[in-house]
Amino acid sequence: MSPMELYEKLNAQGDKVRSLKSAKAEKAEIDAAIQLLLKLKVNYKQMTGQDYKAGCPPSENLIVSNNGPTADGSDGEDVVDPWNVSASSAKGVDYDKLIVRFGSSKIDKELLDRIEKASGQRPHHFLRRGIFFSHRDMHQILDAYEKHKSFYLYTGRGPSSEAMHVGHLIPFIFTKWLQDAFDIPLVIQMTDDEKYLWKDLTLEECHRFTVENAKDIIACGFDVKKTFIFSDLDYMGASPEFYRNVVKTQKHVTFNQVKGIFGFTDSDCIGKISFPAIQAAPSFSSSFPQIFGGKKDVPCLIPCAIDQDPYFRMTRDVAPRIGLLKPALMHSTFFPALQGAQTKMSASDPNSSIFLTDTPKQIKNKINKHAFSGGKDTVEEHRKYGGNTEVDVSFLYLTFFLEDDEKLEKIREDYTSGALLTGELKKILIETLQPMIAQHQERRKQVTDEIVQQFMTPRPLNFKF
Ligand code: TYM
Repeated sequence: MSPMELYEKLNAQGDKVRSLKSAKAEKAEIDAAIQLLLKLKVNYKQMTGQDYKAGCPPSENLIVSNNGPTADGSDGEDVVDPWNVSASSAKGVDYDKLIVRFGSSKIDKELLDRIEKASGQRPHHFLRRGIFFSHRDMHQILDAYEKHKSFYLYTGRGPSSEAMHVGHLIPFIFTKWLQDAFDIPLVIQMTDDEKYLWKDLTLEECHRFTVENAKDIIACGFDVKKTFIFSDLDYMGASPEFYRNVVKTQKHVTFNQVKGIFGFTDSDCIGKISFPAIQAAPSFSSSFPQIFGGKKDVPCLIPCAIDQDPYFRMTRDVAPRIGLLKPALMHSTFFPALQGAQTKMSASDPNSSIFLTDTPKQIKNKINKHAFSGGKDTVEEHRKYGGNTEVDVSFLYLTFFLEDDEKLEKIREDYTSGALLTGELKKILIETLQPMIAQHQERRKQVTDEIVQQFMTPRPLNFKF
């Protein structure tokens, strides 16, 4: 049950107690109803960290009580925040549980059908396979879209090094699909300020990584007429409207709140403490007057992996208090580390990652050497008992990048029955990734500094509303 469902159940139980009392029902019946009410209140406090109060629905940014980077997962809970992802099971994060903890909603068949109907496109395989699995307010976005009220997309990247890894492609590939399917504008925030505050890097390095990473992002195929990419270090100073939204957000979030959401401590620098307001600001259309002509009410949809959700729980909590719209979200699961699904592929651990700059030989060696296998120890055992696709990293990677549903299903069957060996499965993955990354590198080579400049110049975009 989500916090909101529990809240509604509590409301209903409160009504029931009142009506039993006014109907002068049996004492035993009233007592039982009160006991249930008290039990629900305890559950509510455990789930949200807040006391239940009629008329005060759960606040989104306080829903997750142990989501700080200090949480070590020792209580068996998965840890998911912008800096850490670790799961207690080899199968990876329990995403159904995460939906309940974060108070988001599952992307279900009904939503997929609506997306298909509104866009006229078969849902992307990331949607069909549950890789984008959770959302906030997508139904509102589609209600408005069906009434010819369009929306815009917002996503981002923290440029911490020159090379991005394949996991970083997931939100960008999906965002490109959304841009094409709905024919809408897109803003991409490069948080070079964030990386300066968090890492041991100079401002110049962070800004250079912005430009280098922008080339990889552009190579995903975004339309220059519909896409604005910006560096925080540049745009904060260039756009008074953007900075005004940052300041409004800063005024409405306390230090206590960001401590609760992000796990900041008294010894964190003040830049970190106020940074979440900068990641919030692009969720508001008034931050981009050159694109939206000063309109405050263009709805925003943010595709990202679920590690970024804490920023947007905060944003959604603040938005109505500063007279702006809450952004909607679509969350993806994590592309796993080579070593297994217990953690995500992360640039800060080079052994866990396949980079977009890797050569075919490096890709082959990394997969053969590091990709965690769900196969059995000997060929005889494997043929007899079969492999486990739920934990096998090569198979999991294919669910992201092998588009052909039938081929993927056949691989699943053959690996599970033991007909396909681990070495053969790894070979299929290598032969899928090598050309994919080589083509990416080819497209990236075509992205000149002038093209980056075009994408990064504040300007009107081309779209119909
Ligand atoms: P960053 O650079 O850590 O990640 C960029 C985007 O990639 C997603 N991501 C992954 N997705 C799947 N599997 C993985 N292993 C994986 N690792 C990272 C992230 O969720 C993100 O969508 N603070 C942000 C930058 C940012 C942003 C945003 C991201 C600013 N505004 C709005 C998303 C939406 C950051 O450092 O992302």
